[in-house]
Amino acid sequence: MVRQHRNGSKGVWLTAILAASTNATPVLTSTGLLRTVNNTLTGVADDIKHLFLSDTAPVHNSSRCKVYPGDRNWPSDRAWETLNQLVDGQLLSRPDPLASVCYNGPLYNQAECVKVTAYWNESYSHFDNAVEMMSPVTQGMTCLPPNIFDSGNCTRGGFPLYVLNATEPKHIQMGVNFARNTGVRLVVKNTGHDFLGKSGGKDALSIWTHHFKDIEYFENFVDEKVGYSGPAFKAGVGVQAFEIYKTAHEKGHSVVGGEGETVGIFGGYIQGGGHSPLTSLYGTGADQVLAFEVVTADGKFVTANSTSNTDLFWAMRGGGGSTFGIATSVTVKAHPDFPTTASRFSFTSEKIGNETFWAGIRAYVDYFIPNADAGTYAYWTLIPNVWTGIFTFNMSPFFAPNKTLEETKALLQPWFTRLNDLGINFDPNITHFDSYYEAWRSSFPLETVGKINSTTGSRMFPRANFETEEKRDELFNHLRQSSKNNRVQVHFNIKAVDPANSDNAVNPAWRPNILFAQQAVRWNPNGTAAETLKVRQEFQSGDMQRWRDISPGAGSYLAEADRLEPNFGQAFWGDKYPRLLELKAKLDPHDVFFATTSVGSERWKVESVDGLPNENGKLCRVD
Ligand SMILES: Cc1cc2nc3c(=O)[nH]c(=O)nc-3n(C[C@H](O)[C@H](O)[C@H](O)COP(=O)(O)OP(=O)(O)OC[C@H]3O[C@@H](n4cnc5c(N)ncnc54)[C@H](O)[C@@H]3O)c2cc1C
Ligand SMILES: *[C@@H]1O[C@H](CO)[C@@H](O)[C@H](O)[C@H]1NC(C)=O
Ligand SMILES: *[C@@H]1O[C@H](CO)[C@@H](O)[C@H](O)[C@H]1NC(C)=O
Ligand SMILES: *[C@@H]1O[C@H](CO)[C@@H](O)[C@H](O)[C@H]1NC(C)=O
Ligand SMILES: *[C@@H]1O[C@H](CO)[C@@H](O)[C@H](O)[C@H]1NC(C)=O
Ligand SMILES: *[C@@H]1O[C@H](CO)[C@@H](O)[C@H](O)[C@H]1NC(C)=O
Ligand SMILES: *[C@@H]1O[C@H](CO)[C@@H](O)[C@H](O)[C@H]1NC(C)=O
Ligand SMILES: *[C@@H]1O[C@H](CO)[C@@H](O)[C@H](O)[C@H]1NC(C)=O
Ligand SMILES: *[C@@H]1O[C@H](CO)[C@@H](O)[C@H](O)[C@H]1NC(C)=O
Ligand SMILES: *[C@@H]1O[C@H](CO)[C@@H](O)[C@H](O)[C@H]1NC(C)=O
Ligand SMILES: *[C@@H]1O[C@H](CO)[C@@H](O)[C@H](O)[C@H]1NC(C)=O
Ligand SMILES: *[C@@H]1O[C@H](CO)[C@@H](O)[C@H](O)[C@H]1NC(C)=O
Repeated sequence: MVRQHRNGSKGVWLTAILAASTNATPVLTSTGLLRTVNNTLTGVADDIKHLFLSDTAPVHNSSRCKVYPGDRNWPSDRAWETLNQLVDGQLLSRPDPLASVCYNGPLYNQAECVKVTAYWNESYSHFDNAVEMMSPVTQGMTCLPPNIFDSGNCTRGGFPLYVLNATEPKHIQMGVNFARNTGVRLVVKNTGHDFLGKSGGKDALSIWTHHFKDIEYFENFVDEKVGYSGPAFKAGVGVQAFEIYKTAHEKGHSVVGGEGETVGIFGGYIQGGGHSPLTSLYGTGADQVLAFEVVTADGKFVTANSTSNTDLFWAMRGGGGSTFGIATSVTVKAHPDFPTTASRFSFTSEKIGNETFWAGIRAYVDYFIPNADAGTYAYWTLIPNVWTGIFTFNMSPFFAPNKTLEETKALLQPWFTRLNDLGINFDPNITHFDSYYEAWRSSFPLETVGKINSTTGSRMFPRANFETEEKRDELFNHLRQSSKNNRVQVHFNIKAVDPANSDNAVNPAWRPNILFAQQAVRWNPNGTAAETLKVRQEFQSGDMQRWRDISPGAGSYLAEADRLEPNFGQAFWGDKYPRLLELKAKLDPHDVFFATTSVGSERWKVESVDGLPNENGKLCRVD
């Protein structure tokens, strides 16, 4: 194996070590084990060698918490330095948060701070940074642009201490071995989109997967066991929605992915299930997976597909990220890039008053089943304004893949007629596009991220909630109540078919879903931690509990949910949870991988410094 080194003394040092023992150069064996001859790393000092080897158990596994700076077992600077050598100099030490330019210190720069502040709400400024996550609330609010939230200081909070900017599987193997062998907390960050902040962790070693950007196309990928024969893409896990959609379009295809252009659809999205503008036609993101390449908890690099490592393959399709392994690539089915019709429109209660406004929304609820059954996707919002008392409905957009203009108009007409009869003015721009790609590009504007005082909870309302007039009335009343209670609501009228009848870990609550509903609680950003916690708990026991009560046995979506979701195992995986727990024990017996609300995470808790549900604290066992 040829190792590339950056110029500089560190690279020279390692080259010297390896050259002194050529036949002991670390190699990836066929099973991917990182080994030297006789499983030793010749040249690395004897006292730290064991920290880098595969297939070993943790040395210090009896302490209550993961290992942190100041602990006796915290790795020496020399151990970290050696890790850096072994990953080709790709280890970043204490990468700076974006807003550090806004606070006193060596990085202070007023002009840069103005820029960071201006783009804080856009995902582009966060995913290119080694540590940033798009939910400062889950980071612990310790370093924000002061004009957005004055954190007083810029401290690391829930950000990791070291980031492995991985570009090859062997870097990830080294990182996993080091975390397992030392007991240092390991986190995985791809883009940082996760609503629950699962890409962060105070003083952790983070594996950053953003630079795995290769895309390979197969004209005819055959998997007899899955029953698939057709086009497929193999994508590095750092590939984002806007990248794969463009590449797929150039080949005349589309792939199932999220609406948001920057989401890391081969990272947390696909392992967590993943809903898409194409979900009513083809199912969830995880239903499309033909293979993963994965670094496992014991440091191996393996393929998980229908014939190899089948348990891992089952669990990683819906079981959630940062739990069973770290994927480096995903192979997914490709679909035709067909013409698509889309429409955006909105109306408010301002001129028509509350009763008429809500009658218009109630009328819409009658069409959720037929619209989902027709294979469409509707992304719509209900926004209250406490100061004006005005409610706003936004259709953004109604999306009809593979439908003509006429077919789409015919689907919307019954509801539009009722809106007209109610005297509600709206101006639907219904546009036909030659391709799914063009329709997607023009229909989904970049969304706001980085909010400082809100959290979203979610519920998958099944078909049963819409089958009778009474049930539709009941559901509608609950949505209206949430608006009265000042909840911002975001809804997806979709179903998650599964034509291939995949046996995987996707939340079974997706299958009967008709309305995937989200509501957000907001609080005063200047309140005390105790006040914030109270507001958040009351949201769970109030508005969220009302939604759960009318949809018994249904679930919530693990990537767009609240960290305070009660009984999350049932909510995120339903009756598949017991099997997932068994697989977690088998595939990661030492809990090398952890993320809050992930499978098996109930054994651990982040003991945050302010008592709020965030990453700003040590990860410790729950006894
Ligand atoms: C603006 C916006 C739009 C969105 N749109 C949609 C949508 O249309 N449909 C939808 O279903 N969801 C959507 N989401 C939610 C999205 O699916 C989740 O945020 C998801 O977690 C993003 O995955 P990521 O890898 O980009 O993010 P990250 O936050 O980096 O990672 C998410 C989780 O996955 C883990 N992880 C990431 N990569 C790997 C890997 N290679 N191996 C193992 N674990 C890994 C991380 O450790 C973390 O636990 C949206 C979110 C935002 C903020
Ligand atoms: C590997 O181990 C074998 C058996 O213990 C020994 O004979 C051999 O010399 C070792 N090789 C190296 C390179 O250390
Ligand atoms: C520590 O590791 C040993 C050996 O692998 C194992 O038997 C034991 O259960 C582990 N303890 C904890 C707390 O994980
Ligand atoms: C800033 O951080 C330092 C070190 O963590 C801490 O001692 C100090 O109290 C902080 N100041 C403010 C205003 O938060
Ligand atoms: C991470 O690695 C990539 C690929 O080598 C490089 O382009 C990028 O600059 C690195 N990022 C940081 C923050 O070092
Ligand atoms: C699964 O992966 C293994 C290992 O790469 C490979 O040999 C096998 O052909 C794959 N199976 C399918 C169905 O593609
Ligand atoms: C509509 O309802 C909201 C909230 O319930 C209220 O604040 C507002 O005054 C009402 N508007 C009218 C015109 O009655
Ligand atoms: C797309 O539409 C064509 C023509 O109506 C139809 O044959 C095809 O099955 C549709 N594709 C999907 C995925 O529904
Ligand atoms: C309707 O939407 C399309 C696509 O977004 C846009 O190009 C067109 O200008 C819009 N038409 C009007 C009248 O707004
Ligand atoms: C971010 O904020 C700016 C200024 O308020 C606004 O113009 C822009 O549309 C916002 N972007 C997003 C993605 O919300
Ligand atoms: C949340 O923060 C925004 C921006 O600072 C602010 O406008 C809004 O009033 C806050 N919400 C509440 C309920 O305080
Ligand atoms: C929070 O405090 C800041 C600074 O004191 C102030 O500018 C802002 O308006 C306050 N926000 C709310 C929602 O009270």
